[in-house]
Amino acid sequence: MPHLLHLDSSADLAGSRSRAITAAFAKAWSDRGADHTITYRDLHTDPLPRLSSTALHWAPRLRTADETAPAADEALQQTILDELLAADVLLVGAPMYNYSLPSTLKTWIDYVHVPGITTTFDATPSQPLAGRPAVVVTSAGGSYVEGSPTAGWDHLTPVLEIVLGTALGMAVTVIATELTLAPRIPDLAAQVPHSEALLTTALDRATALGATI
Ligand SMILES: Cc1cc2nc3c(=O)[nH]c(=O)nc-3n(C[C@H](O)[C@H](O)[C@H](O)COP(=O)(O)O)c2cc1C
Repeated sequence: MPHLLHLDSSADLAGSRSRAITAAFAKAWSDRGADHTITYRDLHTDPLPRLSSTALHWAPRLRTADETAPAADEALQQTILDELLAADVLLVGAPMYNYSLPSTLKTWIDYVHVPGITTTFDATPSQPLAGRPAVVVTSAGGSYVEGSPTAGWDHLTPVLEIVLGTALGMAVTVIATELTLAPRIPDLAAQVPHSEALLTTALDRATALGATI
């Protein structure tokens, strides 16, 4: 049974673009049939506690003698890891907050980026998610494309590409939408049509990918 893990992290429960785009992907996935199942986790409405100990960053065999974590925290991390490991496809809604990730999504990353379990640290190979697709839906108020005054300020997308792609070995596809604040910022008013076109393109891409991936 093909299984999707769908994460959202926008704090906007009414007009979020990343939520709309991940929903389009998830709908196309579900429309493929009842065998295309989904686990949904809303990291904003149901936030994870921050890591209680550095122990949780390491596989038990890689921890130092004084690195320990409460059993309940170990159990929570195992639940989060099991959700990811059970997924054939990962879908992540990732709004840009302060040029980087929402803290809620960053915390989820802290739970799943574990040397010795999800990423190889030493001679023992441990990249169980290698090759699995991860679809990252980014949404930013401004513009960070080459040639824009803020090109190079995007510290959201690279983190997700490095952790999910390089460290965990997943096959990352980014669906980006930006200039979402064009209707709200007077200086960006001329960009409203472009912003809307970017949203349409992103929704179409998400629907097409959800139907085929
Ligand atoms: C706390 C917060 C911080 C933000 N920081 C940035 C930022 O650094 N750069 C930017 O372009 N937009 C920023 N924005 C705007 C969001 O990126 C924009 O509203 C985007 O559409 C959020 O994704 P969503 O539509 O899925 O909620 C910020 C919004 C919030 C709520």
